[in-house]
Amino acid sequence: MKQNVGKIAVEGKHIVKDFQIGSTTTKVLKDLSLQVARGEFVSIMGPSGSGKSTLLYILGGLDVPTSGQVLLNGTDISRFGDEKMSRLRRQKIGFVFQFYNLIPNLNVEENVMLPLLLDGKKMGSYKKQLHHILEMVGLSDRRKHTPRELSGGQQQRVAIARALIGNPEILFADEPTGNLDSKTGAEIMSLLQEINQSSGQTIIMVTHSPEAAECSSRIITVQDGCII
Ligand SMILES: Nc1ncnc2c1ncn2[C@@H]1O[C@H](COP(=O)(O)OP(=O)(O)OP(=O)(O)O)[C@@H](O)[C@H]1O
Ligand SMILES: [Mg+2]
Repeated sequence: MKQNVGKIAVEGKHIVKDFQIGSTTTKVLKDLSLQVARGEFVSIMGPSGSGKSTLLYILGGLDVPTSGQVLLNGTDISRFGDEKMSRLRRQKIGFVFQFYNLIPNLNVEENVMLPLLLDGKKMGSYKKQLHHILEMVGLSDRRKHTPRELSGGQQQRVAIARALIGNPEILFADEPTGNLDSKTGAEIMSLLQEINQSSGQTIIMVTHSPEAAECSSRIITVQDGCII
């Protein structure tokens, strides 16, 4: 086992997730285990309601499992408290969502820098990094635009840049092309593929699109709370 230390980016061990609503318990994840190696680009697929987003949020520290463990780079994060977890997310994890989740009254640069600013970092110290990331996502000429002045594909590029600015260990994406037309979706997928291949960025993505999943190196299928 020792030789695997450092090679596994994230590992879920016997993850169970129940949601309690009133007196009803819904079992959403049923003893699910998986490993994702550093540098992998994994797609999670499966029917609507099968637990894909729930799994992604638990692996990325946005939610906690009812039981089981999540090891991020060997550290069990499943019992971290709120504050420790938020810091970990800002420093080690990038998230991209279907609906971009940008701040409407901040411009592109400010949206991208937000996680670092929230962490008390100074904008000035990240000039080079910001420049590099905006080049990479193709938004160098849109720095001062606000989200409403951008297309959906451009907004998703801002969200990707924001997720990457802190140099995360893992980039998580929940249906990143779900709100885009197929051509724009394909452009976003080639960007993610390029990010994975050029810098070895580990990516875990939930998608319903077989075309999007084809860009990844492995597909995990979730059905009814289990990996099949
Ligand atoms: N916060 C919550 N409280 C109660 N039930 C929840 C909660 N979040 C998710 N669920 C339930 O868990 C199940 C799985 O939801 P999840 O969002 O993980 O599905 P999904 O596979 O991502 O589906 P989709 O493809 O439609 O996004 C659903 O039955 C959902 O109702
Ligand atoms: Mg979902």
